[in-house]
Parts: sequence; C-alpha cells; structure tokens
Amino acid sequence: MNQIDAAETDRLSDAIREILPALEVFNQFRKQDLSAFQHSAWMAALDQPLPESGAGLQQVLHELTETIIPHGFRNGSPGFSSYVTTAPTTAGTATALASTVAGSQRWHVHPFNYLETVALRWLAELLGLPGHWQGTFTSGGSIANIIGLGAARQWTLERRGYDPSRDGLPPDLRYRVYASNEVHQVVIRAAAVLGLGRRAVAPISVDAKQRIDLNHLREALEVDRSKGIIPIAIVASAGTVNTGAIDPIEKMAEIAAKYETWLHVDGAYGLFGVLDPRVSPLYSGIEHAGSVAVDPHKWLAAPVGCGAVFVRNRALLGRTFTAEPAEYLEGAVEISEEIRSPYDDFGELYHDFNLEMSAPSRGIQVWAILKEIGAKGMRERVVLHNNFARHLASRVEKDDRLELLAAPVLSICCFRYGAPQAEEANLDELNANIVNHLRAEGIYVPSTTRVNGKLAIRPCYINPRTRISEVDGLVDQVREIGDALLSR
Ligand SMILES: Cc1ncc(COP(=O)(O)O)c(C=O)c1O
Repeated sequence: MNQIDAAETDRLSDAIREILPALEVFNQFRKQDLSAFQHSAWMAALDQPLPESGAGLQQVLHELTETIIPHGFRNGSPGFSSYVTTAPTTAGTATALASTVAGSQRWHVHPFNYLETVALRWLAELLGLPGHWQGTFTSGGSIANIIGLGAARQWTLERRGYDPSRDGLPPDLRYRVYASNEVHQVVIRAAAVLGLGRRAVAPISVDAKQRIDLNHLREALEVDRSKGIIPIAIVASAGTVNTGAIDPIEKMAEIAAKYETWLHVDGAYGLFGVLDPRVSPLYSGIEHAGSVAVDPHKWLAAPVGCGAVFVRNRALLGRTFTAEPAEYLEGAVEISEEIRSPYDDFGELYHDFNLEMSAPSRGIQVWAILKEIGAKGMRERVVLHNNFARHLASRVEKDDRLELLAAPVLSICCFRYGAPQAEEANLDELNANIVNHLRAEGIYVPSTTRVNGKLAIRPCYINPRTRISEVDGLVDQVREIGDALLSR
C-alpha cells in the first residue's frame, strides 16, 4: 500500500504566514466587536454540512483569515474588564504554538514535561507558598478546585478508616463543606462531582466587606458537630469573583485546626494579589492550608486552559486520583538496562495527580511568561491593576453621580451610577442599561454583579493591555450614558 494521508503535515511556515496578518489585525483590537451583530453572516458561512471530500488546507486557511479570526472573542481588548479573563500576551501565544508542535503530550521526559515541574516551583515561590508543597497544572480553576477538595475528601475519610477513592463514599455518613455565599459556583459543583452533593456546601453569610462571617462559620461547625456531620473542608476565597474580597485566611486556619478539618483556598483569581505589599498581609495563614487553587490563565495572562493547584502532601493526590496501571501505557515489557530509549521514563506522573490522562504541557506557558517578565514584572502588573481599581474608586467617591458599592481590595471596583435625582427603585435597571450600552459600543466592557443586593458595574483589571486611560474612559462613559438615559 502506498497510501498518503489526506492531511497536510508540512508547510507550517506557509500556513502561519497566511493567517498571521489577520491575527495581527485582530490583536490590535482596533475595530469594534461586531461578532455578535454580524453573526448571521459568519454563522451562515460556517454552518455547512460535513464535507465528504475535504476542501484542502488552503480553504481552511482562507476561512480562518476571512471569517473566523476577524470575529473572534475580544477579551484582550484594552477596555475589556468583564469576568476574570483576558487574552494571552505574546510569549504565551508563541509558546502555545511551540508546545502544540513540539510538546503536544506531557508524558515522558522532554523539556515541555520538565518545565511543568520548573514552572510549578516558580509559581509556588512567586506566590510565597511553602517550598515542600507540590502541585499540578489543570485546565483551569474549576478542575483545580475539584482536585483540592478531592484531596480534602481523601484526607478526611482516610483518618476515619475509609478510602473514598477506592470504595466510594460510606453511605451512612453526612458531610459538609463550609464556604461563604460569595464563593465561586465551581466550588459547589466540585462538591457535586466528588459525590458530596451540592447541598453539602453550607453557605456561610458574609460581613459588610463580603468576607466570610467567622461567627456564623463557627456556629455552623458546632451545630454540625453535634449532629455528627463530618466537615470535609472549609473554603477560603482569596479574591472573590464578585468584589475581590479576601476571606480572613489566618482565622479560618485556626478554626480549621480546632475542628480538625482541611482548609482549601480558592485563589483562582486573587492569589496573585499577594504580590502587592498593600494586600499581602491578608494572605497570611495560607501556609496552614491543605490546598490552594490559582489560575495562571487569569492574572498571569497565560492562554486559557491553564490553572494550577498546590497541596501540602501530593501523595494524597496520588491516592485520590491515581489511574490504575495500564498494559498499553507503562508497557507489558520490562525496561531493558542495555537498550535505552526516550520512552523508558514517564517523567513526573502528572496524570496520577490529576483528572486528565492526555493533556497539553501547560507549565511551559507559565515558564515563558515568568522568564519574560520575571517576578518583578508580575509584581508591577498586580500593583498597577490594583491601582486602577483604587483610582476608579477615588473618582467614584468624588462624583455625586456615582456610588462606590465595594471598596477595592484587589483589582475589582464595584460601583454604580446613581445621580441624586435617580430613584433607588430604578437604579438596578438604569445601571443594567448603562452596561448594555457600554457592551454594545464595545470599547469599555465591564460586567455586572450584585453587592448587598444592588446591581453593580464591575470592572476587573487583569488585562496587561489596559491603561489608565481605559479606566478613566469607563467612568466618563458611565456618567455620559447614565445622564443621557436619565434625561429621557
Ligand atoms: C475565584 C474563582 N474561582 C474559580 C473560578 C473558575 O475558574 P475557571 O473559569 O478557570 O474554571 C473563577 C473564575 O473566574 C474564579 O474567579
């Protein structure tokens, strides 16, 4: 048989050259985001039946250039401050391409695998986590939280003589995970995935600064103890997604020690905040946690698909997530001493600490970003973005048409338009309308949330392309749109 595969496996430079101009144009974020308005045009072009005969690489590149890239998602645009997401910087993008080509699987010992280890070490050092902690990269915060709480579940039940990973959850026991009602919803899903159930997450109220109420936490633990309910973990948010509030980690660690339970810290967004000396004291006590989640694809601006979790004892992760040995993988043959090959050593067995078997090498992106800008560059970014939120807050406070709803702790500032003549009952709708107008214009794109029941405009600054002019521009636009809507 002399069959040749239908797919092009060479001509990479030609292909990259072909799509590069469209990527460069996109990356300048000059045009308005028309993807939503024009979706009838690009959807119709893409909504084609499965081709029986392939159209060829040239056609793929043409459609990428003409139809797909120009309508991409503009979360990297300098004025985009919604959610907690941004587009990667150049080092992350170039590295993602390099690892797709040369390190497309993290097994075995090669630089892409090895840099997982190096990058985890750098990340832990950058974030001030204890040196003996070990981690694993994940696809994001969702999985990082599942892994951290999976370790908590294993630790808790092993101490009672059970192995939940091997045998499942003992049916006659009841469990609880304690988290503030500002916790990210992925923590609740983690409880569901781990078989504890969503309802096992006890929503603990928050104080006036959206931090977990310690008295309520103690009460809930006490009541549950009297009922024989087993505490699996206390979850501290180190940077809530709504306002950036940081739970009192040190005190929560003391409570966790008293009730002999695991402390998990969700720092997916906010753990990088520890790099700002103004807020770093708020993270003290983190060294007493059992696990910590952090997302390089947020503030570090790695390409999306890069989270991480660190645990104080990674052997526990091995027992929680180990994949049974497989003949096809580790091999049915003994490794020979005489005939050595690059496939003898799997390197760090990340697939035994994690939920994924095959996975891209994610550490390389973290390595590249930190290699490029260093710890100093990252510190400067975090301080700058926290300054943006503070600058915005001070403008809001000086303006009688604006109201600050939550003073920034990190890089989120929650505020609303509320000119003196506007009625409280109408403010939610008015502010939602303002944000709808902003999003339609597409230059300043914050999201919304609720703070103490009030609808807030919520910019979150993690985007390395954002400048102070975008912060001022957002305030000016909110005033302008608010005034115009009010006068109608
Ligand atoms: C505090 C926090 N935890 C968890 C997540 C979920 O992370 P991911 O979207 O990477 O799964 C987010 C996302 O914004 C977050 O802000």
